[in-house]
Amino acid sequence: MSLSEIFKDAYGAEPTGFWAAPGRVNLIGEHTDYNDGFVLPFALPQRTVAAAGPSEDGRWHVCSTLIPEPVSFGTTSPGDVTGWGAYVAGVVWALQDAGFEVPPARIALDSDVPLGSGLSSSAALESAVLTALVDLGGLDLPVEKRPALAQRAENVYVGAPTGIMDQSASIRCLEGRALFLDCRTYEVEQIPFDLAAEGLAILVINSNAPHQHVDGEYGARRKACEEAAAALGVRALRDVDVADLPEALAKLGDDVLRRRTRHIVTENQRVLDTVALLREGRTREIGPLLTASHVSMRDDFEITVAQVDVAVETALESGAYGARMTGGGFGGCVLALIDADRAYATAAAVAAAYEKKGFTAPDSFVAVAGPGAARMPGNQ
Ligand code: GLA
Repeated sequence: MSLSEIFKDAYGAEPTGFWAAPGRVNLIGEHTDYNDGFVLPFALPQRTVAAAGPSEDGRWHVCSTLIPEPVSFGTTSPGDVTGWGAYVAGVVWALQDAGFEVPPARIALDSDVPLGSGLSSSAALESAVLTALVDLGGLDLPVEKRPALAQRAENVYVGAPTGIMDQSASIRCLEGRALFLDCRTYEVEQIPFDLAAEGLAILVINSNAPHQHVDGEYGARRKACEEAAAALGVRALRDVDVADLPEALAKLGDDVLRRRTRHIVTENQRVLDTVALLREGRTREIGPLLTASHVSMRDDFEITVAQVDVAVETALESGAYGARMTGGGFGGCVLALIDADRAYATAAAVAAAYEKKGFTAPDSFVAVAGPGAARMPGNQ
């Protein structure tokens, strides 16, 4: 069934239109967003699509091809709607809380963003719904202000203490570009990122490792960074320059805080170095920065698991220029920068290494930078 038919089936009417928002891969800059730092994600072709139209009863109605139970709610505040519906209700709440008159709507959702894999399926959902509601209601909300509202939905309504990266990527990315984002000022630079033209590819390897303790560990990392910033007397770890790192580390009494700080400060620098190389078209040379980012996440930030470490090591042995885990961590995906004609061989090498270790088989695909959230032309 098409999404249009699903909508008609659920609500007995045609949708007004279709809005799509993508998942993302973060090329580099992990856990830097909530430290006011730098990130460099690009949008995936995989996306969430919302078919939407007005609702006559003043309420919001949502159904999804992925979940059998539909959700329905009226004016809402945090805690009312739980489960997957909270991501939708959270967006309605965040818009209303910011003073917008949100149009009551009927929504049907479909998505091919892999769930719980660190590819931002939740940001894709929030961004698709947000974009649909903004357009349906003719709300005056410029694109650059939208990610913070979607983030608020996730932070306050859903209760996940995430940064601004995922919603920014889903909403502000452009096709064929990576999004260089300053997470303090929300300034962006669209960096040309056409790997195919250079005979290169990004292979994304989903480790399929079960996500464990994700929320608690994520919150703990965030808290440690805030503690370190307070101890150093700076607003955020972004304010520690890599040249001043030895001095900063010497001031921190606690070894865990030292290692968390070292990851954030060096990771911010790696983002800047990656951007500088990409601006000069020296794409292959970003490889060592990607791999250094992984080592830093593994040893200093301690957010990797055996499955992602094995995927990185195997991709490198198989000739990748660089490889790293991407996303929040504790499972999820690895990306590897490879020669385009090595995609199958690299994916096969990782699959073989997983089999040898007795891990659940991974899934791999080549990721091409797709467009950000937008209304889609025609019927779906
Ligand atoms: C998750 C969060 C983001 C970011 C990454 C780590 O994806 O949603 O805000 O912190 O982890 O870089």
